[in-house]
Amino acid sequence: MRLVIKGPNRLQGRVEVSGSKNAVLPILAASLLCDGTTVVEGVPRLKDVAVMCGVLQHLSAKSTWKKDSIQVDTAQIRLEEVSEDLMRRMRASCLVLGPLLARFGRVRISQPGGCNIGSRPIDLHLKGLRLLGAEIKERSGYIMAEARKLTGAEIHLDFPSVGATENLMMAAVFASGTTVIGNAAKEPEIVDLQNFLNRAGAKIRGAGTQTIRIDGVKSLHGPMGHRVIPDRIEGGTHVVAAALAGEEVIVENIIPEHVGPLLAKLREAGVAFAIEGDAIRVLRQAEPKAVDIRTMPYPGFPTDLQPLMCVFLTVAKGTSVVTETVFENRFKHAGELSRMGADIRVEGRSVIIRGVRQLSGAHVVAPDLRAGAALVLAGLISENSTVIENVEHIDRGYEDLERKYQGLGALIERVVS
Ligand code: UD1
Repeated sequence: MRLVIKGPNRLQGRVEVSGSKNAVLPILAASLLCDGTTVVEGVPRLKDVAVMCGVLQHLSAKSTWKKDSIQVDTAQIRLEEVSEDLMRRMRASCLVLGPLLARFGRVRISQPGGCNIGSRPIDLHLKGLRLLGAEIKERSGYIMAEARKLTGAEIHLDFPSVGATENLMMAAVFASGTTVIGNAAKEPEIVDLQNFLNRAGAKIRGAGTQTIRIDGVKSLHGPMGHRVIPDRIEGGTHVVAAALAGEEVIVENIIPEHVGPLLAKLREAGVAFAIEGDAIRVLRQAEPKAVDIRTMPYPGFPTDLQPLMCVFLTVAKGTSVVTETVFENRFKHAGELSRMGADIRVEGRSVIIRGVRQLSGAHVVAPDLRAGAALVLAGLISENSTVIENVEHIDRGYEDLERKYQGLGALIERVVS
């Protein structure tokens, strides 16, 4: 499947952000901890969400879509191993590790392999689970975790990993006593997970700060309507698109604070906005200026928006240095952007971008989810046609991206071949 974009485009109008992929995946995993039925609202129709529903199905937890809600029923839940196939389809499948260990006292999952943005081990998840009392064996590509009883402990993460924080919050929910996670990830999705779990009867506080405290409880009951937060990465993508190609674009259903680090950088580059409640109006721009960026855990500049900002900087005046500190191999878009006329060079963990006046369309391949979205933005502002192959990567994390941009007046089409 490919996207064909005829450019350059000028975007105008309103675009609505869907629910957060990275919030809904751990929340669906957390529904495994809940007795009865759970209803999660505002769920985006994404490939990754379908994979997580597949994992739940595999465990005999029934998930049913109703409009933009998913209902999960765990009445028939059974422990099964999470196979290599499920793990390969989506790394976030490893988020069931904590909940299954908490619920069944044992779990066997396939070792998540490398992926195309870096090696991404789960050693921090396992280290934390061991501190809670789990015995963990890693053998022939599988991880086996067992604990007759989990006991609250003090865990200090070596790095504020999002997935490790979430897995440990879920594992600790039924542990006896209090668990303290220090140097926890502070992403808004962690706060959403805390809110979901607390509505289900958990006793968690501190999410959004570096210390999270979990007092163990005996059971959870599925909340009947938790609405997930808007997707700050999708929202940020539209804000960058508007800054690049907007006449006047209003991005709706966005929490401005969640994209604060992006807005700060864009402001530094000369972009003007108006914040109007849960919408951001991106005003018509003069020529943007080069800025330097360093990705960091929240509230630093998000690594997921780094490829999108690289596109913005390819046409900004001057030279920018973008440094990636979270993942080791996240500049796959650089080569494709060069093919579109960008002056961009990778040097170790940085890219050096010299702004050019105009990009030009080319035949490119989406190397991963966010790099794929970056190529869409590049296609929107390029002269002539851009063809983007491997759209499947983009579908993992963006709901109806081409329809949303068509709504803003862009000439973008999906071609099924
Ligand atoms: C989540 C997001 C992803 C985002 C990332 C960083 C989901 C489903 N995905 O991924 O979109 O890019 O946060 O904001 O929410 N690490 C270890 N050992 C571990 C765990 C992580 O070394 O046990 C390293 C990773 O290899 C990586 C860094 O820590 O270099 C960040 O990873 P982490 O915060 O765990 O990201 P994910 O939860 O996988």
